[in-house]
Amino acid sequence: MVYGLSREVRRFADLNELSASAAEDINRLISRVVKLKGRFSLALSGGSTPRLLYRILGTTYQDMIPWDAVHFFWGDERYVPHEDKDSNYRMAREALLDLLTVPAGNIHPIPTTYRKPEDAAESYEKDLRGFFDADGDTFDLVLLGMGKEGHTASLFPESPAVEETDRWTVAVEVNDKPSKRITLTYPVLNRAATVYFLISGPEKAEAIAKVFDSSTYAHSCPAKGVNPPNGSVVWWIDSSIPDF
Ligand code: 6PG
Repeated sequence: MVYGLSREVRRFADLNELSASAAEDINRLISRVVKLKGRFSLALSGGSTPRLLYRILGTTYQDMIPWDAVHFFWGDERYVPHEDKDSNYRMAREALLDLLTVPAGNIHPIPTTYRKPEDAAESYEKDLRGFFDADGDTFDLVLLGMGKEGHTASLFPESPAVEETDRWTVAVEVNDKPSKRITLTYPVLNRAATVYFLISGPEKAEAIAKVFDSSTYAHSCPAKGVNPPNGSVVWWIDSSIPDF
């Protein structure tokens, strides 16, 4: 099903089927882009939904995907040490990266050791701007989740970060634990070539309905604001979410 001009919805029986299908799709996408460009830039999501997808990529596709050409970034990070149980970097390392042979220079974690989170955000932005061209696409693929109130990455409803139009990375305080976060913003997310939202769980139903409701705005449902004008967005949704 295709909604609007650039939001496609793909529905699956459950998270297992969704994750297996997304893994195969990502396999094809990476292979195609690496043949064309010689590298692939992937922004990983935190949270629990993508964990199974990461595990499948790291096992079933361990030897199929040219992982040495893939550069790993993060869409957001909790401002905790990378070995902390709440770290998105730690989750991705345990579920995926530890299973792969990837050059250390291809892994671009969001730093969390600066005294001021704002300095960490600035440092990451410098890395991103050094990696991508000044114009054109940024990430080849961004993986995102969505909270039940419509946040994505660490862009939460009514946050000033949702209004950011220049900086690619900002430090935020959110109403969730851990509260200090670093998040990518719309200026860099909306230059991605492809965005996949991975959504599972009935608690996301209300927020999904807001995303596809033409009368709502991104400030109240930040996931809605990720919609690259020159890219494509696919919503991978399992059947725990009723039709909308
Ligand atoms: C984070 C994620 C966040 C996540 C959503 C959904 O750092 O927590 O980036 O945006 O994707 O909260 O999380 P679940 O997949 O666990 O529902």
